[in-house]
Amino acid sequence: MARNSIYHAVRLLGIRPGQTVLLPAYVCETAVEPLIEARVKVEFYAMTRNCEIDYDDLTARITANTAAVLAVHYFGFPTTIEKLRALCDERGIALIEDCAHVLFDRIHDRPLGTFGDASMFSWRKFLPVFDGSTLRINNRGNDMNLDLHNVPLSIQARSTKHAIANVPVVGRTLRTLKRILVRRAAPTASETASARPPQVDAYETNTDHFTLSNADFAMTWASRHSLGYSDFVAIAAARRTNFAVLWSQLNNTSGVTPLHSKPPPEGGPWVFPLIFGEHHDAHKTIRKLGVPAVAWDGVRPSRLSQAFPDADFLYHHLVFLPVHQSLDEVHLERIVSAVELAASGPTDPKPR
Ligand SMILES: Cc1ncc(COP(=O)(O)O)c(C=O)c1O
Repeated sequence: MARNSIYHAVRLLGIRPGQTVLLPAYVCETAVEPLIEARVKVEFYAMTRNCEIDYDDLTARITANTAAVLAVHYFGFPTTIEKLRALCDERGIALIEDCAHVLFDRIHDRPLGTFGDASMFSWRKFLPVFDGSTLRINNRGNDMNLDLHNVPLSIQARSTKHAIANVPVVGRTLRTLKRILVRRAAPTASETASARPPQVDAYETNTDHFTLSNADFAMTWASRHSLGYSDFVAIAAARRTNFAVLWSQLNNTSGVTPLHSKPPPEGGPWVFPLIFGEHHDAHKTIRKLGVPAVAWDGVRPSRLSQAFPDADFLYHHLVFLPVHQSLDEVHLERIVSAVELAASGPTDPKPR
C-alpha cells in the first residue's frame, strides 16, 4: 500500500533518522505514521482553503535539518508540483510526490509521479484489488534494494477471493461458478491458524493505520494480475464523466462549492471534493442517506498540534463524494439529492 511505499522511500532517498520531513497540514494520519516509524521528524506546512500549498509558510519552515517535503496531488488533481520541484532544487532537499490519489495524469506532457525524487501510488482507491502500491524512485537513490517477501498463502487466497468477487459476471452458470470459487478461495479457520506466521495476524488492508510488520510484503499475486489487466484509460474516463455530471448538478446548489470545476485533464479523479461553506461534518448526514461520503476529520494526524486554521476548515468542511467507475445515473442522482439535503442544514435524515 502507499503507506508502505512512503516508509521505504525514506531509506531509499537516504533520509536519516532525526532529519525533518515537511508535510501538508491537511493530510491523513496514514501518510504520517510511516514517517514516524522511519524515525524522521515530522513537521507541517500550511495549506490554503483551496487546498493549495501556502508557499510563504512552507519556505519559512525549511531549515538546515529539512531533508524532504512531501506534497499531495489531492483527489487526483495536479498540485503546483513544478514550482515545488524548483523550490526543493534551490534548497537542496528531496521531494516526495504523494500520488496516492492519482490515476495517472500529466503536466506539460510529463506524467505525475516523475517530478518527485520518489512517488507512490495507491491502487485500492481505483481498482477492485485487495492491496497494492507502486513506489517510484526517480533520483537520489543510494541503496535501491528493496527486499520484499510474498505474503503467506492464506493472505494470497484472501486477495484472490477479493479479485474474483469483484469480477462482473453475466448469466446464472457463471454466477454460480463465481460463488463456488469465492467460497473455495477463502481460507478455512484451520488453514488460517496454521499458515500464518504470528506477525501476519494483523494483515489488514482496509485500515487507516500503518503496520510496520507488514511493510516488507510485496503486492499479492492477484492484485498484480488485476493491475496488469485493468483498463486504466476507460476507468479514468468513466470517473471523469461522473465528475462532470456531479459538477453540473452541484455547481449551483447553495451552501456548497466544488473545489474544482473540471476533472483532471486525462486521469481519473479519486473523488469529487465539495466544500460545505456553513455546515461542519456534512458527510455524516450524507452517509446516513446511504451515500459513502468521506471527510478527513477522523484521520487528522494526532501530531498536528499547531494552529493551521485553513487546514482545520478543510478537515471539517471538505467532503469527498464518490465518482467510482461503476456508478450509474440513479446513483449519481442519489448523491446529488443527499448533498442538497445536507446543504440545507443539519438534519437527522431517515436512511434510504
Ligand atoms: C495522501 C495519502 N497518502 C497516502 C495514503 C496511504 O495510501 P494506502 O491506503 O494505499 O496506504 C493515503 C490514504 O488514503 C493518502 O490519502
